[in-house]
Amino acid sequence: MSKTIIISNRLPLQISIKKGKLNVTPSVGGLATGLKSFHRDGDSVWIGWSGLTAEELPENLINEVTQKAKDEACIAINFTEKEIEGFYYGFSNRSIWPLFHYFMEFTEWESWHWETYKRVNQKYADAILKNYKDGDKIWIHDYQLLLVPNMVREQAPNATIGFFNHIPFPSYEVFRTMPWREEILKGLLGADLIGFHTYDYERHFLSSVSRILRHQVNFNEVSLPERMVKVDSFPMGIDYNKFEQAAQDHFENSLENQSDLQRRLDHHRKGAPGAKLILSIDRLDYTKGIAHRIRAFEYFLEKYPQYIEKIRLVMLAVPSRSEVPQYQLLKKEIDALVGRINGKFATVSWTPIWYFYRSMPFNNLIDLYASCDIALLTPIRDGMNLVAKEYIASRKDQTGVLILSEMTGAAQEMNEALLINPNNFEQIADAINQAIEMPEEEQIKRNKTLQKRLKRYDVEKWANDFMKSLTKTQETRQSNKAI
Ligand code: ADP
Ligand code: G6P
Repeated sequence: MSKTIIISNRLPLQISIKKGKLNVTPSVGGLATGLKSFHRDGDSVWIGWSGLTAEELPENLINEVTQKAKDEACIAINFTEKEIEGFYYGFSNRSIWPLFHYFMEFTEWESWHWETYKRVNQKYADAILKNYKDGDKIWIHDYQLLLVPNMVREQAPNATIGFFNHIPFPSYEVFRTMPWREEILKGLLGADLIGFHTYDYERHFLSSVSRILRHQVNFNEVSLPERMVKVDSFPMGIDYNKFEQAAQDHFENSLENQSDLQRRLDHHRKGAPGAKLILSIDRLDYTKGIAHRIRAFEYFLEKYPQYIEKIRLVMLAVPSRSEVPQYQLLKKEIDALVGRINGKFATVSWTPIWYFYRSMPFNNLIDLYASCDIALLTPIRDGMNLVAKEYIASRKDQTGVLILSEMTGAAQEMNEALLINPNNFEQIADAINQAIEMPEEEQIKRNKTLQKRLKRYDVEKWANDFMKSLTKTQETRQSNKAI
């Protein structure tokens, strides 16, 4: 029977070693959380990095790692420390990630990072080929694996290969600064179908293909001498039912079963008449505009002092890529900003910001989504932003206001949110005020529309649309061959 081979750098499970024992936790990040349900419900195998380096993994635990991955229909690959340094902390996260998010001042071009990126991409391609049988579909994910489609194509010319990019694709003017731009584009064009979250990313990619490689582009197809490559946009959805159900369970939870976090959240809301909670959740990443958000919140407290002691920003940041210097600097900046603002505005009974720097279990995420009156998400650039969708899906009574940066892919589908420019603190402060004052009927009206849309375009539909389109490209190829 044919299957789908999913391949991404990060598996949906993260394996680490604690006191000599394996510790398995779910991965954080839109790719893993979103794709998980497609993987769970379908006939697929998922190949990716275990999260461990070969040096960290003692020989007696190798089989156990393989088994833990196998239990989840995954195949775990381990890389050496040097490979992770050059491929993951290097080219993926110091070159492509900043460039594709328009942080050109953060990009580094080290040729050994690039060489390692190529080598590790080849390892991934080899892992696919080892598990590939005729008739299987191959679905490659994200910016860490841009060369894999063509590496597989070279060994399996007839394979059906899809690629989905979970981050923005920058405009040609930005992309062309990449020293190895031809290789990257040729790598991607090994796929039959290349998907992006938005039409703009698709357009930017096609423009780079036609201007750098000089291939003919007709509407959304690239003509290669030997075959066509289709390029399209597929905005990723969430597992809507999971969040809806979790919010329902949360609502039905008895008082004794409430988490400590929930009790603290309730305590704040009952503390003062009209007290409100603002939520933000992201990985600690410079693209997420966390420092902008804190500064805008400070400006809000100055402009609208009547909310002092009534409003609290609950800010959850998950540690991410902590070996990359920009992330370390950002951590220091956020720590200092939170300290400064709490010091500046706090009273004996109130602190304006609650800051958590850690991952949280799913039920605590739901506590936050369900209890916070406002979600304030201010990325400077974000391919999609699933947190925005998860917040809306978890609003069981349909109240709540989403304030969302225009620079996210999600903003294109969520017009009913209060859309802001993350660089405009005046606008953010006014949006917070508008959110606090928004009548419940208006909140419900906006969220009803959003929920309907998110339910219809959920992650299952996203994956099915992509897969259907991929199958079609293959059928077209077969029929062209027959002619
Ligand atoms: P990105 O993919 O850039 O990290 P997204 O907003 O698209 O951003 O996806 C983040 C995902 O990670 C969401 O599904 C969210 O539920 C999950 N997540 C974010 N923060 C946490 C946290 N502190 N603990 C657990 N999961 C989290
Ligand atoms: C984003 C990327 C994913 C990545 C995730 C977490 O969602 O698109 O590819 O897995 O961030 O980042 P990490 O570096 O921890 O895998």
